[in-house]
Amino acid sequence: MTMYVRVFSNANAVGAAAAQEIAALVKARKTSNGTCVLGLAAGATPITVYRVLVRLHRGGLSFLNAVTFNLDEYYPMPASSPHSYARFMRENFLDYVDLDPANVHVLDGSLRVDRIAEHCERYERCIAAAGGIDLQLLGIGRNGHIGFNEPGSRRTSRTRLVTLDEATRRDALASFGEDQVPQQAITMGVDSILRARRILLLAVGSHKATIVAKTIEGKVTDEVPASFLQQHPNVSVYVDRAAAESLSRVSQKQ
Ligand code: F6R
Repeated sequence: MTMYVRVFSNANAVGAAAAQEIAALVKARKTSNGTCVLGLAAGATPITVYRVLVRLHRGGLSFLNAVTFNLDEYYPMPASSPHSYARFMRENFLDYVDLDPANVHVLDGSLRVDRIAEHCERYERCIAAAGGIDLQLLGIGRNGHIGFNEPGSRRTSRTRLVTLDEATRRDALASFGEDQVPQQAITMGVDSILRARRILLLAVGSHKATIVAKTIEGKVTDEVPASFLQQHPNVSVYVDRAAAESLSRVSQKQ
């Protein structure tokens, strides 16, 4: 399946386009009295998305009908840690919008290891009970991970505890500073992600150019977990010019 690609002039434009699509879906569902189930990502890439969504909220967009599920969390990781994705979500989005806390779901990096499998199963059941994910927002690691589905992750993988790739831990060093980057994480699986009805994959910066090209134009392989997105019928990839520079062909330019 061909993935639909849009190239934007810069990272802000990528974030704004993704935010507009999310906002339109939330509004459309509100009009039909329905909930909107969003799969959310942490990391540098979606920060501009959350910034625009917060601005739209200040202009009147309500998230009271939205339900959110975050993709992943480091393990072990207390939610209060400055490095937790739970905290990232609060500081970049949740503290500034009217989402009902009961509708916000994040994976819990503070659990004892013997409770994680059950926690992951409950997370999957909770997504299913919410009606499945309407729109999943994704970033991409330089090694092709989506969520923390590192190279070698199966197409059939579900929410689980994983070992982080050395490349992923190296990339996280800058934000962890003096602190140790955890060796593990809890992540929704490739299959959990592919069940979303709509997927938006965002990538910005020239350091993502090679993996973006492999993801879109390379063969489908568990060595590049993001390449499984080629098998999904409704994915759009939003990139800035720098992240698009290794693509040999582009479906649409903007
Ligand atoms: C974050 C996540 C990761 C990131 C990826 C890119 O929730 O699931 O897959 O999307 O590591 O990170 P950034 O955006 O920081 O380059």
